[in-house]
Amino acid sequence: MSQPLEPSKLNEIIRKVTMIVIEIVTLIVSILVIYIKSLIHLIVGKPEKNVSGQVAVVTGAGHGLGKQLSLQLSRKGVKVALIDINQFGIDSVKDEIMMTGGQAFAYKCDVTNESMVKQVMETIKSDLGPVDILINNAGITHCTPFVDLSPGQIRKTFEVNTLSHFWTISAVLTEMIERDQGHIVAISSIAGLLGTPNVVEYCSSKFAVNGLMTALEKEMHIGGANANVHFTTVCPLIMNTGMFKRPKTRFSSLLPICSPEDVASTIIKSMLQNDSLITVPQSAMAIYRLEKIVPEEAAKKVQDWLDYGVGSH
Ligand SMILES: NC(=O)c1ccc[n+]([C@@H]2O[C@H](COP(=O)([O-])OP(=O)(O)OC[C@H]3O[C@@H](n4cnc5c(N)ncnc54)[C@H](O)[C@@H]3O)[C@@H](O)[C@H]2O)c1
Repeated sequence: MSQPLEPSKLNEIIRKVTMIVIEIVTLIVSILVIYIKSLIHLIVGKPEKNVSGQVAVVTGAGHGLGKQLSLQLSRKGVKVALIDINQFGIDSVKDEIMMTGGQAFAYKCDVTNESMVKQVMETIKSDLGPVDILINNAGITHCTPFVDLSPGQIRKTFEVNTLSHFWTISAVLTEMIERDQGHIVAISSIAGLLGTPNVVEYCSSKFAVNGLMTALEKEMHIGGANANVHFTTVCPLIMNTGMFKRPKTRFSSLLPICSPEDVASTIIKSMLQNDSLITVPQSAMAIYRLEKIVPEEAAKKVQDWLDYGVGSH
């Protein structure tokens, strides 16, 4: 026969169980509050912050999405530091911004070169002041089946698409923490959420960016710290910038080939609303979430049926 519990042990058990019940109830209430907030935002829209007068650094600003982000940020009154290896590209984006009364500054820099990034970011800070917004946009791909990829190509993709984020973030994060103000935006890709044939090295580099941003955001916000340093990871579908020369989509209204102008405007809106993870268009998020809950085989069948992706070139 089992012995009855001592009153002190029984009290301890009751105390622990009560604590856990209180914690669970608090958790459920806070989750409910999040759902209610999301519902309200869905109905009336999320409030947007004002970035006028702030300093933004955009990498890969000389072409495509980076160019559009820079032009549109300047229209919001942001001073834009344009970074690219393509001097001609950033010079012409700078001219375009200056002609419309905005402020832009061009800095030729290879984002894979850690010491060059450090030096250029210091120059930007002394020219324009502390960086409020960092958009890591520069990216490359080789669009080649895995078996034909050279080690040099694989390394290069990771250096531009992933490692460069570490160098640029390192140059601004401490100051953002000290000022408790800042926003880091990573341009990832839908390829960083769903693997795609012919761009295996590209997909892996973008999956890594998603991991970097998710983990960094969590690390920064432990116990409610650095509440005003924000992180946004962006996963666009294919854009017609020329990066992918052979895009394919079977249902273009569901999974369109997007224009960089439209993608940039969605990104800026999401950044102003401090969103954490977005797909562009946002409808692609539903496909991604669905993929996660259906059996793997079924997800593969749906992907094949949608026939969305890129051919090698
Ligand atoms: N184009 C697409 O379909 C697509 C889809 C999803 C995500 N993206 C991502 O969006 C971002 C922008 O793509 P895009 O289509 O505008 O590309 P893009 O080729 O039009 O422009 C990329 C820019 O990055 C610059 N760049 C490349 N290597 C650099 C380096 N080492 N240092 C500094 N600058 C460098 C290039 O000179 C160019 O100006 C990339 O991160 C890309 O992976 C693109």
